[in-house]
Amino acid sequence: MQVQWYPGHMTKAKRMMLDEIKLIDLVIELLDARAPLSSRNPDIDEMSKGKARLVLLNKSDLADPDRNNAWLQYFREHGITALTVDSRNREGFGRIGKSVEEVCRDKKERDQKRGIMNRPVRAMVVGIPNVGKSTFINSMCRKSSARVGNKPGVTKGKQWIRLDKTTELLDTPGILWPRFEDETTGINLAYIGSINDEIIDETELATGLISYIAGSYAGALYDRYGVDESLDAVGILGGIANKRGCLKKGGECDYSKAANIVLDDFRSGKLGRITLEEP
Ligand code: G4P
Repeated sequence: MQVQWYPGHMTKAKRMMLDEIKLIDLVIELLDARAPLSSRNPDIDEMSKGKARLVLLNKSDLADPDRNNAWLQYFREHGITALTVDSRNREGFGRIGKSVEEVCRDKKERDQKRGIMNRPVRAMVVGIPNVGKSTFINSMCRKSSARVGNKPGVTKGKQWIRLDKTTELLDTPGILWPRFEDETTGINLAYIGSINDEIIDETELATGLISYIAGSYAGALYDRYGVDESLDAVGILGGIANKRGCLKKGGECDYSKAANIVLDDFRSGKLGRITLEEP
């Protein structure tokens, strides 16, 4: 399966990110809990050197709970503070303040040694497209809608949202480009809807997803569509087309229509809580 990239798009995004990151103390990195590695931008480590870091596994409501825990442990073992959140429902938000405090402790101490008292932590949300950055920022805002005015030395037009006494969040997220590294990553990103479907054949994409789900989450396809999971992926897709009445004139299966049903159902969690990667 060929996944096409348009790195040209991303040059501007990268430049903007590098400019904005200079203003902040804390990078809040949003990943998709269903594919934490594939949704991670490999350059973020380099870009956020010297900054405090917090990883949020967003859309954890759509991901496998056991694997959510395994991923949290994975990040912990790599010295990265991580939390699972569901930004639509503010699930997990209660733990964010304490984690911010933890990861910013060094900064606070440095400030104090230099005689700087109570300078707020400035945070920025970063992540690849569709990972939930705007939803996260809006949900954070709802709690504390206090906006901080423009400040000298800060890019004009940028708004900061006061989260609590010590933290301010930039109201626009940093958009990171997805990984370009390998085919599996590209395909995982296509499954979760992070890269444009139009560049990939949906039938091929859906059969790949069906193979994975049938192998790792036995019963999920049967429960949703009543199909025989012992068939190969194309056979299962044909079964779904039949069950859902996706037929062309003449009674032939409309694989493309069935493929879109499968992809939509996966992305909206109707196939259950499924994670594509294991630590
Ligand atoms: P972005 O800024 O990173 O590009 O992402 P954005 O917030 O626009 O979110 C992309 C989609 O993901 C939205 O759905 C949003 O509702 C959904 N989303 C964000 N966070 C979560 C989460 O924690 N759990 C779940 N289940 N979904 C989440 P959409 O279908 O594009 O829009 P809408 O139907 O919500 O309007």
